[in-house]
Amino acid sequence: MKMHKNVRNSLKKLSLPIPIQKYFLSQNWDMDLGSNTNPFGGDFSNYPDVMQLDLKKLYLKRILSINPPPSFKAALDEDNVLFTAGSMEGIDLLLRAFPDPNQDLVCIPSPTFSAYAHWSIINGLQVKKIPLLGKNLNQIDVESIIKLNPKLLFICNPNNPIGTLISHAILKKLCQSLNGFVVIDEAYIEFSDQHSSLFYLKEYPNLIILRTFSKGWGLAGVRCGAVIAHKTIIDTLRYIQYPFSISIPSQQAVRKVLTTPDKVFETWKKIKKMRRDLHIQLSQRKNVIKIFESHTNFLMIALHNFEEVNRGLKQEKIHVLDCSSELLQSIRVSIGTEEQNQKFFEIIAK
Ligand SMILES: Cc1ncc(COP(=O)(O)O)c(C=O)c1O
Repeated sequence: MKMHKNVRNSLKKLSLPIPIQKYFLSQNWDMDLGSNTNPFGGDFSNYPDVMQLDLKKLYLKRILSINPPPSFKAALDEDNVLFTAGSMEGIDLLLRAFPDPNQDLVCIPSPTFSAYAHWSIINGLQVKKIPLLGKNLNQIDVESIIKLNPKLLFICNPNNPIGTLISHAILKKLCQSLNGFVVIDEAYIEFSDQHSSLFYLKEYPNLIILRTFSKGWGLAGVRCGAVIAHKTIIDTLRYIQYPFSISIPSQQAVRKVLTTPDKVFETWKKIKKMRRDLHIQLSQRKNVIKIFESHTNFLMIALHNFEEVNRGLKQEKIHVLDCSSELLQSIRVSIGTEEQNQKFFEIIAK
């Protein structure tokens, strides 16, 4: 299995982890006496399926049927997918596979999901934050990123914690112009009406999509995400990923939701409606300065009486994300159940 040419220099001669070599390099076997497992154990006594071919097929079928652009012809297959232990693992794998520590630059828009900078620093990488621009914080200075020539650029789309979307025109320009990888984290794409960048994957060899089952699919406790990219990128990540990181119960839970997805699709519609309703309700309050137009399952709200609201929320033991270090007097609140949203609204309205 070939590694991508832009893999970290120190990894160029690495072999696949020994426990998974047998799945990729040798013939089939009927009896496994090479894994030292307990043959008298129960349902989980063997290691999980490493290839997950059926699951990947099912996953692609589902996600490629959601809101495709009219001209799209599907051309992705199982070789383009790697399941990960949450998309957090996907972020870390990319940082460990490609940029060289103490040498390469990772570009990250600001504000955005904190994990990109956090794990970049852990991996000894230099981070450059690029401010998001415009009143919806969904514009970015493409030329300045091109000049910086990052090995990886992370774009969260729709963006956490703002909730807004960057246009396909900007994303395509970035993919066309950068030598490095453009990683588009679509953790919240299920709550958006804009189609996924997945549909452009074949056009751009440097495009990488991150997905998760933690948000729209309702499986945060299962810890499963996916990296979707060109085969050599996926193959390279196999050299880095811990063997067997997707457990048997995780695979079972993912299979179940993908086999019978209608219930979950209904929740996406419901959450979008609740988001609209809460947005309208909140925008009528005088203490609300601004609510960003959200394409996610949360709202970013700037408040005149930020301190007072925070005190009220704490008193009621309601946790929201304090975003005031990045956006003045702002909190990010998830769309909850009807009762939870009502309780939150009452505190804002008090
Ligand atoms: C933008 C974004 N990406 C990735 C993640 C991580 O998700 P997971 O639970 O799949 O690790 C989150 C979680 O909040 C997120 O907001």
